[in-house]
Amino acid sequence: MTSNRTVPVNEPLLDGNERRYLDDCITSGWISSDGPYVRRFENEFAARVGRKHGIAVCNGSVAIDVAVDALRLGPGDEVIVPTFTIISCLAPLIRAGVTPVLVDADPLTWNMNVDQIEEKITPRTRAIMVVHIYGLPVDMDPLLDIALRHGLRIIEDAAEMHGQTYRERPCGSFGDVSTFSFYANKHVTTGEGGMLVTDDDDLADRCRLLRNLAFGPPRRFVHHEFGWNFRMSNIQAALGVAQLERLDEFLARKRRMGARYTELLGDIDTISLPVPHTDYADNVYWVYGIVLHDEVKPDAEEVMRLLGNLGVGTRPFFWPMHQQPVLRELGLFDGERYPVAERIATRGFYLPSGMALSDDDIAYAAASLRQVLR
Ligand SMILES: Cc1ncc(COP(=O)(O)O)c(C=O)c1O
Repeated sequence: MTSNRTVPVNEPLLDGNERRYLDDCITSGWISSDGPYVRRFENEFAARVGRKHGIAVCNGSVAIDVAVDALRLGPGDEVIVPTFTIISCLAPLIRAGVTPVLVDADPLTWNMNVDQIEEKITPRTRAIMVVHIYGLPVDMDPLLDIALRHGLRIIEDAAEMHGQTYRERPCGSFGDVSTFSFYANKHVTTGEGGMLVTDDDDLADRCRLLRNLAFGPPRRFVHHEFGWNFRMSNIQAALGVAQLERLDEFLARKRRMGARYTELLGDIDTISLPVPHTDYADNVYWVYGIVLHDEVKPDAEEVMRLLGNLGVGTRPFFWPMHQQPVLRELGLFDGERYPVAERIATRGFYLPSGMALSDDDIAYAAASLRQVLR
């Protein structure tokens, strides 16, 4: 069966001051990274997260490259990272010659299982890469305690977690350096974009240097090391400033969306839904994930295909890092098993979760899922 109706998996809302600020860029001619909106976006975003410095870059993936390099992690070092995450977390480690060491996911929150971190620490461990996944933060207090006791740095990937808090402290406030993405499906979007935030003046200077080709001082075009051109443009930052003005409204929209899906799907006993609350956070439902129980015959791929026939956009869950061909070919993770990540990767997907989703869209997507599972 097919449908004429479509509910995209994500659609941003761009009906605030976006057009006005973009107009401003064009009228003023400030379209490169050398424009006033970049500074403004950096300052306002960092302030929102309670950090001293914001360093805007061109996406959330390269923000992690800069973070790894800024912390001078390299060959011989190990970093503990969840297996259930995006390749953006692992690729910078590999590029820097760092050895990634994995932990499994927590079956309820889908975040890294903090209880597994300590047993993975060796004399070579230098840092933990925290990744907040899909809507709930990682349980930070025990993780911070481990990091403190073992003298480990923290890279916090808060790409998905704009405006979310852990025990009332903003996500993005926990890392020596923390990173964000502003891809079109994020609460605050610049189309493509990213940011590093930190309180450390030296780290901030180093991040700024690395994102800008490591141009001198003392003289431009004289280099003492390699950087990248990872700059964000004034046009992107103009979007970001307009989006950030509405972050609280966007968070409320996401939470309403999550509550509505849960109301409509909560009685289906063959699927797991996102956990609405833990004792440290309320879910912000960056995406509304579904995990099919074992008794559901079709796997996630098939359910997504059937939903697609009904016009309902979906995306699969992340694929675990220990099962990535590109990492296995490097001889990594041989014989390692992470059963929770493996299970949610094959049984999990998410429903339309964009900012522009209407109540009708949610009702249609939920009814379609119910029909497909019947
Ligand atoms: C947890 C996480 N980290 C990093 C990224 C990469 O961000 P970007 O797409 O801006 O490169 C994403 C993207 O969605 C993400 O979900």
